[in-house]
Amino acid sequence: MSHYLPPIEQFPRLNQGACYFDSAATCLAPEPVLQQWLQFYREYHASVHRSSHAASREATAQLEQARSDIGQFIGADAHNLCLPASTTIALNMLAEQLPIAWQAGDEIVLSVAEHHANLLPWQRLAKRYQLRLRWLELDRHSGELADDWQQLFNPRTKLLAVTAASNVTGALLPLPELCTAAHAVGALAVVDAAQAAAHVRFNVHSIGCDALVFSAHKCYGVTGAAALYMQPQLWPQMQPWLLGGGMVAQVSREQAQWVDAIQRFEAGTPDSAAIVTFAAALQWLEQQQQAGLHDYLAQLRQQLLHGLQQRQWLKVLPSGAAATPLVSFYSDTIHAYDLAVWLDSVDIAVRAGSHCAQPLLQHFGVESVVRVSLGAYNTAQQIQHLLSQLDQAHALLI
Ligand SMILES: Cc1ncc(COP(=O)(O)O)c(C=O)c1O
Repeated sequence: MSHYLPPIEQFPRLNQGACYFDSAATCLAPEPVLQQWLQFYREYHASVHRSSHAASREATAQLEQARSDIGQFIGADAHNLCLPASTTIALNMLAEQLPIAWQAGDEIVLSVAEHHANLLPWQRLAKRYQLRLRWLELDRHSGELADDWQQLFNPRTKLLAVTAASNVTGALLPLPELCTAAHAVGALAVVDAAQAAAHVRFNVHSIGCDALVFSAHKCYGVTGAAALYMQPQLWPQMQPWLLGGGMVAQVSREQAQWVDAIQRFEAGTPDSAAIVTFAAALQWLEQQQQAGLHDYLAQLRQQLLHGLQQRQWLKVLPSGAAATPLVSFYSDTIHAYDLAVWLDSVDIAVRAGSHCAQPLLQHFGVESVVRVSLGAYNTAQQIQHLLSQLDQAHALLI
């Protein structure tokens, strides 16, 4: 048994007995992390990388320290870590700027579990250049990556763009193996770690990816900050996507020269407070992991899974052996939205729908599912409460 004690007192809005089971969408931010955000605005708020006065120097130092700390969390050097506002923005930027000379018939390998953020930008690119999207399938029964996945990679493969974990089933994909297969045919490998970063300790070097991205707000931080690692041979070949202040070395009336640094991808004033808070959130997360959070959430997930499987009227989407702490399920007789509305009426927050992953739901032959995703503030009692409220819903809505 895990001895982890959920720090519920750090999440005041949960003191009224509310159950928040939507951490895969956005984690609640704990008080110590929020204090960092406030402290930044109170004590350090100023323009970064622009002005020479002391306040600006201090704000810049805070931002760059955060870059270094966030990089360390994934084993990346700060020089290779860009700080966009979200995973979605980073993936769109990569789709437009990766240094690949696309030719009609080139192939991009995606998984069927992609969030739309790691699908639509590649879909648009595929239309523009007449590329072929190839799909890593998940087994419908086990939820695992299908056995024949290696066959997808061939000399026409120019890119692998894959999620580290499904935001619907939680299934973790074998990133090092996938990246090795991509590199073996000369393709680049991009990892969308938005869903997994709070649960799996990544090292970009052991994964062997060319780029990896994740958002702060799914790691107990605030919205408005994300991390995009790009390997040191990659980003110098890339043109910036957004142009503006803070990313140029020299500008004349006719031309401009970009800074020879990762900041060339950070045009405009960044959300410095969100970035500094991101570093604080990762530090907080690390402390929780040291206190046993990972095993604790794995146990809660088992309890949830077991409880759901005992209820014959519910069907659980399979996740495979290794998964993040979430479970998605549906009923043939009660719509997922009705279940979510019922649960909301008793202060239990879950998410229902297609979870921005419609191809995956089509793969499983369902239109919408209820997703229960767990965070550091959830407890075994809350899961019991959720299960008994599902029983109530079943009794009343059927
Ligand atoms: C797997 C995955 N990728 C990308 C995203 C998009 O992240 P953001 O909304 O922070 O840009 C999400 C958000 O749910 C996600 O789960």
